[in-house]
Amino acid sequence: MFFRSIRFRLTSWYALTLAAVLAASSLFWYIALSRNLEKHIDERLLDVAKVVERSHLKEHRDLSLPQACNDLDKYILDHNWAGYAQVRNSLGNIICNINSVEGKPLPLGKSALLKITKMLHHFETVRNLDSYPLRLLSYPIVHDGRLERIIQIAESYEQAEHTLSDLKIVFLMLSPFAFIALTGCGWFLANRALTPIVNITETARKITAEKLDARLPVHEPQDELANLSNTINSMLARLEDSFNRIKQFSGDASHELRTPLAILKGETEVSLRWAKTEEELKQTLESNLEEINLMGRILEDLLELAKSEAGELHLDFEEFSLSDLLQDIYIHAKTLAEPRQHLIKLRLQVDSEIHIWGDQIQLYRMFLNIINNSIKYTQPEGTIEITLSVDDETAIVSVKDSGVGISKEHLANIYDRFYRVDAARNRQDGGTGLGLSIVKAIVDAHGGRIDVDSVVEKGTTFTISLPLKRETLKKS
Ligand SMILES: Nc1ncnc2c1ncn2[C@@H]1O[C@H](COP(=O)(O)OP(=O)(O)OP(=O)(O)O)[C@@H](O)[C@H]1O
Ligand SMILES: [Mg+2]
Repeated sequence: MFFRSIRFRLTSWYALTLAAVLAASSLFWYIALSRNLEKHIDERLLDVAKVVERSHLKEHRDLSLPQACNDLDKYILDHNWAGYAQVRNSLGNIICNINSVEGKPLPLGKSALLKITKMLHHFETVRNLDSYPLRLLSYPIVHDGRLERIIQIAESYEQAEHTLSDLKIVFLMLSPFAFIALTGCGWFLANRALTPIVNITETARKITAEKLDARLPVHEPQDELANLSNTINSMLARLEDSFNRIKQFSGDASHELRTPLAILKGETEVSLRWAKTEEELKQTLESNLEEINLMGRILEDLLELAKSEAGELHLDFEEFSLSDLLQDIYIHAKTLAEPRQHLIKLRLQVDSEIHIWGDQIQLYRMFLNIINNSIKYTQPEGTIEITLSVDDETAIVSVKDSGVGISKEHLANIYDRFYRVDAARNRQDGGTGLGLSIVKAIVDAHGGRIDVDSVVEKGTTFTISLPLKRETLKKS
């Protein structure tokens, strides 16, 4: 686990890169310094050669040979230059040498000779003459286009080698320290950067279905990890909301089913024990059937709502006449309202037949639910008015009743499942509190909206707006 951790891998990559960079930079500086040292030696050798050429050998061209070498020797002494020098004649024979390396002459190799014959100077590194390599310059002295002398000047690499080996020691000693220190820093930084992830992981581990209210810590500054925490937190909030709704839903569902079940059980037990006549048994069965029907309705409605929440509400979209649908509903509503002797009105405030794109059966069910409520929650001999109008691209249907109304504090909840303003009153009417939830689900599935306006003891108006494509508006 440790070796697979991001911290370890991050630090390892960092250490590897660091080692490569350290090695490359050390090599670079070593080569650069050695080149530089070589360049300096070469420049010095060339300077000496030029001065010797100019001020001595040329003047002593005709003088006796030892004199020429004496002057070269004097020059070297005057300039405190710790090098080797040698003069050869144009045939390559040694005329004299100063500070020779243990009596050995400075060599004149093939490549040097080739350059000299072209009247060019030549630098080379001679390795087998001394314990340290020598940098050797072979320099032609030319007079009137003729090669007269070859000066060979050499300087030991000893000093340069010392400098380079010092540098090597510094690199070799410091690099491991630098590597260890920087890798430690890398480990520390990786730790620091990953601490928020550790905290997130620990908090996330504690989050269970029962403890969905926990939230991940959001670190400052608002970086990528803070963004991640915020995103996960909002996901948790949505999950918590869904979980709570599911809990509420199953609690409500079992509660609602328990009442008719208890009634069923009670009545059946009583009649088993006490019913003597066929008539009494029939009465119990009739009452039981009512409860069974109610349970069936609750289950059907719940199933419908569950489907709509899961986005599985099956809708058969087609173009149909909303005006005709409302006419049918109007006729149906009149029949339903008969026992309570309500006055049902239908006002089509449009000068053409309105066609919309939707599921006719579901919309019929939706309007009937609202009208049913109006019938239920309006005192006998009340008025229920259904109005159709069109505003821009929207068909607006309102259902206005002169009923008991809904007080403000209840208005916000009426679309909640099983919500009933007055539970006692509605149980008597057979209401389960699911009607408006289904209404809202159907309106939402049609891309519409539902609004409610209500005054207690005056009445309630539900307004349903459904999107209407202009081309579906047909002239009658
Ligand atoms: N037109 C209305 N006038 C007064 N109160 C209303 C009206 N429509 C709805 N309500 C109130 O809103 C509550 C929720 O209505 P909803 O239709 O969801 O449930 P229900 O009618 O009680 O039961 P169901 O429709 O499932 O048989 C009702 O219980 C009622 O108190
Ligand atoms: Mg209802």
